[in-house]
Amino acid sequence: MMKTAADFPTPEELNQLSDEKAQPLMAELTDLILYYDRQYHGGDELSDSALPDSEYDRLIALNAAFEARFPQFIQPDSPSSRVGYSASSAFDKIIHTQPMLSLSNAFSAEDVNDFISRIKRFLALDETEAVELTAEPKIDGLSLSLRYERGQLVYAATRGDGATGEDVTANVKTIADIPHQLKAASPDIVEVRGEVYISRSDFTALNAHQAERGQKVFANPRNAAAGALRQKDASITAERPLRFFAYAPGFLSEPISDTHHGLLAALMSYGFQVNPLTRLCHTADQLLSHYDNIAEQRPELDYDIDGVVYKVNRFDYQSRLGQVSRAPRWAIAHKFPAEQAVTTLTSIDIQVGRTGALTPVARLEPVSVGGVTVSNATLHNEDEIIRKDVRVGDKVVLQRAGDVIPQIVRVITDARDNDTEAFSFPRHCPVCGRDAVRPEGEAVRRCSGGFECEAQARERLKHLVSRNALDIDGLGEKQIDQFYELGWVRRPSDIFALTDRYDEIAALAGMGTKSADNLCQAINAKKTIELERVIFSLGIRQIGEATARLLAQRYQSLTALLEMASEAEDSESPAYQELVNIDQIGHSVADDLIRFLTAEENRRELAVLTDILTIIPPEAPAQDSPVSGKIIVFTGTLSRQSRNEAKAQAERLGAKVSGSVSSKTDYLVAGADAGSKATKAAQLGVTILDEDDWLALINMA
Ligand code: IVH
Repeated sequence: MMKTAADFPTPEELNQLSDEKAQPLMAELTDLILYYDRQYHGGDELSDSALPDSEYDRLIALNAAFEARFPQFIQPDSPSSRVGYSASSAFDKIIHTQPMLSLSNAFSAEDVNDFISRIKRFLALDETEAVELTAEPKIDGLSLSLRYERGQLVYAATRGDGATGEDVTANVKTIADIPHQLKAASPDIVEVRGEVYISRSDFTALNAHQAERGQKVFANPRNAAAGALRQKDASITAERPLRFFAYAPGFLSEPISDTHHGLLAALMSYGFQVNPLTRLCHTADQLLSHYDNIAEQRPELDYDIDGVVYKVNRFDYQSRLGQVSRAPRWAIAHKFPAEQAVTTLTSIDIQVGRTGALTPVARLEPVSVGGVTVSNATLHNEDEIIRKDVRVGDKVVLQRAGDVIPQIVRVITDARDNDTEAFSFPRHCPVCGRDAVRPEGEAVRRCSGGFECEAQARERLKHLVSRNALDIDGLGEKQIDQFYELGWVRRPSDIFALTDRYDEIAALAGMGTKSADNLCQAINAKKTIELERVIFSLGIRQIGEATARLLAQRYQSLTALLEMASEAEDSESPAYQELVNIDQIGHSVADDLIRFLTAEENRRELAVLTDILTIIPPEAPAQDSPVSGKIIVFTGTLSRQSRNEAKAQAERLGAKVSGSVSSKTDYLVAGADAGSKATKAAQLGVTILDEDDWLALINMA
């Protein structure tokens, strides 16, 4: 009998393991994984003896946990030493048995009092009657849903869009705070929700370590935790010190407690960490005083928090209160005010982005705001500078809230020297000197240089080779800069011509023939490419991946897209009408697309690309489904799929998804809280389907 992961110590037990015991176990574990690898690659995966993927992932995660604890015994042939190794090629999706909700916010004592009054009104309680509420820190991390069956962890899923998350079980198994097996008797099915985070001290150490190895440093603990949780390689997750606070139930096959407070106690008995600053309160004043208490302790806490969450304690009240849109009525997040600091603005630089947008950036004397050193802040656009009258040399109030880019709130004008001048926004591109134009009604001034402008060309090329675009291995931002400076790349087609420079590339410092081989191979591999990627890669304003996909599906080839653009230059043309009728493509997106596709230099470049590339059209939509050829509009909130997922599915089934209801609409699919579209559909006599009708129609019920 071959061993399984269950035959080895669990990641939690590793701390008690001696060196003498660890070393042979690690050798055995690596051998076992190699054995299963060979079996798999030998084509044996369908045989009865094959290991289920989940068990294989478990071995990988365990191996990673061992290696994190005993790095001195990493086996030379360990799976973690293989370049590009990943436990699973992509994350599977998990549909949450109960949606993962978000929280509405309160910013003041008044908001908190209103929240309590609303609850009492809803429950028809007397204003004087007390409602118990808990108050606990709002951890600034990522939410996670864990499912236990008969006490065993079966999967862990990220929040995703609230309805569907990603299966991160292998990674989560490396987190010491998360029990693989519950430590006390529990119902058959227990789902636990909580927050994954990295402590501040671990974050500092992690960044120091990353910097030392010349690897990416993270902006804040939350980003570091997100990166660690979504690693394709669990051994990397295992190296990152993730932690977890449990704070809510998901689905339970039987109730565990009548109250939230009681449930938290049960979660502790199961082996979870529950935040020690959780309190049971009876009045608004008690909540607010605990809020102050937590706010006072905040600087000393070893983890980031961004507010205090209040929750109705009784579960029967919680279920009566229910939810509005995506937030429960029975809970609220009382946010801390954004952190502020004062510093001096030393200069205003103008950056030129991929689409030519001129963005003013404030350079600041470095200052610490909420634990992060800030030396730049965005000024958005020229109107913002005028509105705030920000001048070089000013003392400014800086604000940072959560993840957002630091903002300049205002200037301390009293501290201003009298001889400073208002900032004058350039009328020419600071990089190429060409006119920077600001169309009427738009906030942004743009360089008119296109690919002739070095800044735009570099940014467009970087976008072109980025992960979601061409995704060429070994060709990142650094190489684009280097090749640009060498004069090798100016236009997208130059990327593909790099293969003609094999010898020159191999001769570059740090390259050599092996790297040059790899690079040329990677470039050649992308000469056959999906149409939607090509469209996205072009970096057209407002055309993201989703829109690129829609365009690819509708037009099926670059030639058809270019033809459409020529015809659609006339906004009265049927071509233009058809374009703006595509769901999610409004006039402004359509105009940007047409402008790009009709510009002479882009057409020339696209002609060259069409010659070089073999472009694969998207799978043709189904011809024979119950909805093929039908025009469908989606509105409101769906509960079993996200609206985007439903739309994509409808398109695959050959339907045309439109954004607005007209007499041509065949069906309106109305989720919860459908608004004016449903009214209009009813007036026009359009068939209205609810989510269940829709799923039944497409045979998915
Ligand atoms: S309760 C239905 N409690 O805040 C209520 N959430 O803005 C579910 N969060 O997605 C959430 N600390 O990621 C709850 N003590 C806490 C929390 C907390 C952090 C996060 C959670 C949620 C987000 C909502």
